[in-house]
Amino acid sequence: MIGKPRGTRDFLPSDMKKRRKVESVMRNVFEKYGYEEVSTPTIENLELFTLKSGEQIMDEIYAFEDKSGRKIALRPELTAPVIRMYVEKLQMETKPLKFYYFGNCFRYDRPQKGRYREFWQFGCELIGTNRPEAIAELIAMAYDILKTIGLRNVVVRVGNLDILRRFLSTMGANDAEMMRLIDKKDFESIERRLGKEEFEKFMEFIETKNIDELEFEEANRMKEILSFLEEFSVPFNLDLSIARGLDYYIGTVFEIDAPKLGAEKQLCGGGEYNLITILGGRHVPTSGFAIGFDRALLALEMEGYTFEDENDIVYIAHMNMPREAIKVARMLRKEGIKAEMDLMARNIKKSLDYANRKGISKVVIIAPDEWERGEVIIKDMKSGEQKNVGINELFNRLQP
Ligand code: HAM
Repeated sequence: MIGKPRGTRDFLPSDMKKRRKVESVMRNVFEKYGYEEVSTPTIENLELFTLKSGEQIMDEIYAFEDKSGRKIALRPELTAPVIRMYVEKLQMETKPLKFYYFGNCFRYDRPQKGRYREFWQFGCELIGTNRPEAIAELIAMAYDILKTIGLRNVVVRVGNLDILRRFLSTMGANDAEMMRLIDKKDFESIERRLGKEEFEKFMEFIETKNIDELEFEEANRMKEILSFLEEFSVPFNLDLSIARGLDYYIGTVFEIDAPKLGAEKQLCGGGEYNLITILGGRHVPTSGFAIGFDRALLALEMEGYTFEDENDIVYIAHMNMPREAIKVARMLRKEGIKAEMDLMARNIKKSLDYANRKGISKVVIIAPDEWERGEVIIKDMKSGEQKNVGINELFNRLQP
């Protein structure tokens, strides 16, 4: 038997039903905010990700040479691809541009619950504005999506890399290595690096709960963003220790957690970033976020969210009358009703057993005498009630 690659998953019909349901809710929220869907290739030139995504991503990237020796990567995320597309095709478009996407991503991570080598991201990019109200709306939308799918317990943390970097420069410690240690919350190494006294100052800084306590010039814009976030009624915590794992971030950054998920609690991450000029485009401000779709589903399950499990298909049982069954199935499908007919030449009793096991609530039975009179039998599996109806009335009788 051949298994599947480590860190990948199969999705059974029952999984896909849940995933499609949550996907459609998320999609609707993005569209309510005026975002439009885009899609980019699963593979990209490796260079797209090596330019600015940072060391951490590089360790995790799936890369290979194609038959012509080109260096190709499976996408580890979608921000760089979307910005590549923007630079190639959309620079002249009226701003702001608001794009959302839903796609699989690949990272050579150590697999565990909530961490996979193939996972799905639902994300978006906002191109052409960095007004405080724009950044606040972006964060509010991420929060709205997670609440709308039914999560009760999510925590929004907002930070700012300009402020963090400005603070680190006062200690001569504003560099990529330090950002990496902060992102990993490796406080031991940070203390070793800064020394005891500076480390205490650092800890005091990242524990700042109120933006008004900060005197940096960069804090003024942050204050405005946070006050707009209040306007959107989004509860949040200031968290100046957010460093983000990707190197392209600047300014406002944010993360949303589902505390119940433990180590892999981060459901969403994003913020302002600069990639356009690195990819050869003319500078305009950009920001965005991505929700870990698989983790959002795990979080729903952890909260005990119950997905409705009703099978709304109509099952057509027949007494060895496949041609009549085909007629009825075609008629129902044409009216937009989901219909499946017995394909195994079962008798009526076995057909009803099947419908029961599948959780089907409506069965149409085709029998010779009734058919002669232009009738079929409808059986409600929940009540057990059974009625003869004219074939022409069938559609009306099956309406919910
Ligand atoms: P990221 O924080 O690397 O950001 O990923 C976003 C989300 O994807 C994470 O918060 C997490 O929920 C999920 N995720 C990441 N790795 C895995 C994994 N191995 N298994 C399952 N879920 C995972 C980005 O990717 C940025 N492109 C977000 C962004 C968009 N920033 C600006 N625009």
